[in-house]
Amino acid sequence: MAKRSISRHSDTPGRGNPEAAKGGSKPHKSGAKPHKSGSKQGARVGKRRSEPAARGAAKSTSRSTSRSEKRADRPDKARALTWVAASLPGLEDLLAMELERRFRGQVSFLEHARTSECHFRFTGTTEELLAIRLCHTLHQRRDFDVLRPRTLLSPEHLNALARDLVAVMALRPEDRYEGLRLEAAGANSPTMQRLGTQLADKLGMPFHNDTGDLVVTLRPGKKGWEVLYRVGNRPLGTRAWRQVDYLGSLNGTVAAALVEMSAPSPQDRFLNLMCGSGTIMIERRQRSAATVLVGVDNSVTALDAARQNCAAAGVRTQVQLLQGDVRRLPFADASFDKLCADLPWGESIGSKKSNTSLYRDTFDEAYRLCRLGGKLVGLTQDPGSLQALGPSVEGGWHLLAERTFVQRGFHPRCRVYQKRG
Ligand SMILES: C[S@@+](CC[C@H](N)C(=O)[O-])C[C@H]1O[C@@H](n2cnc3c(N)ncnc32)[C@H](O)[C@@H]1O
Repeated sequence: MAKRSISRHSDTPGRGNPEAAKGGSKPHKSGAKPHKSGSKQGARVGKRRSEPAARGAAKSTSRSTSRSEKRADRPDKARALTWVAASLPGLEDLLAMELERRFRGQVSFLEHARTSECHFRFTGTTEELLAIRLCHTLHQRRDFDVLRPRTLLSPEHLNALARDLVAVMALRPEDRYEGLRLEAAGANSPTMQRLGTQLADKLGMPFHNDTGDLVVTLRPGKKGWEVLYRVGNRPLGTRAWRQVDYLGSLNGTVAAALVEMSAPSPQDRFLNLMCGSGTIMIERRQRSAATVLVGVDNSVTALDAARQNCAAAGVRTQVQLLQGDVRRLPFADASFDKLCADLPWGESIGSKKSNTSLYRDTFDEAYRLCRLGGKLVGLTQDPGSLQALGPSVEGGWHLLAERTFVQRGFHPRCRVYQKRG
């Protein structure tokens, strides 16, 4: 088989291996809710603010809007709110490490009973904070020294809540909101309904407790009640670059976790086996530069989706996409330092039956392509097929780490191997 040379940072899709328009799964436009465009929201808030019932809040909220808008890119030291970042279950330590790595000296962690969340004060810019990769949801938290939520109905507290929400919305001015949602035990109680209705009224938006995308969580705190305001009209982990979804495409924060587990370095020659719609490639490039970044998939449809997503992420010219079978790739031995594979889970792609031989052949080819001491990160929801590899295939690999996490009811398992001689 002719060996392919790997060009650096050039865009050579299907070079010497034209994509045959066969097979592959049909992509569909992302099911994720699109950003709502236009100035509808602004107009609605503006109109409501001028109404007599909302006048009190109008003054204070519009003042804080302009203040927080100015502040959006400045250190948020002045705001007394605590940040709360949450990862997908199983990735908590990686999120905390990302915060420490990116913001050393600007972040101070606070103790909290919910150890699955990171509570912290932050003195950097919100723009930098909103760019974190391993966070699923980001909130701001204010503590109210009240015994029960009913007290939050007082004008003083309602105004504080409205002001906070206007400031939180200003953190992502491009987002438009359909309505307010309260998340709380007893969210349908008369008190919560009144609170939601009155707060929504102050903000000039409907109270939609099922579908609202401006999300406020109320829960008992150490002292009084904690109110959490979600940043953005979708979870922070939703990737804006996802133009085309693809059957079996990976959650962006999970892909970021796989990249982290590969211990990325700018010197990496990185190969993404079975790259699908490009999620891992994009997360790898957004994490740091690499000497070489190649993604391979045998589906022309997947590669098409990857191309569009990479372009939307602004990394199209930095990744090479290649159609090919990962069991026989046209690269010389030891061409790569890091390999990553989101293997077919045998759910929407492949089957548990075909996975046994596919996994074995993929591991064999990955071993050939990896340099001594290099790493392979593999992810699957089909641990049985991993287990079935047995010592003869896994023998050359040293298992460095293993973890399982939770994503929409799935419990995929990730393993990190190192190639030994
Ligand atoms: C779980 S999906 C990867 C999804 C990807 N991580 C994403 O976010 O879109 C597995 C991929 O393996 C590809 N695949 C399956 N068998 C293959 C083979 N023998 N060679 C290359 N790609 C293969 C499928 O086309 C599919 O895109």
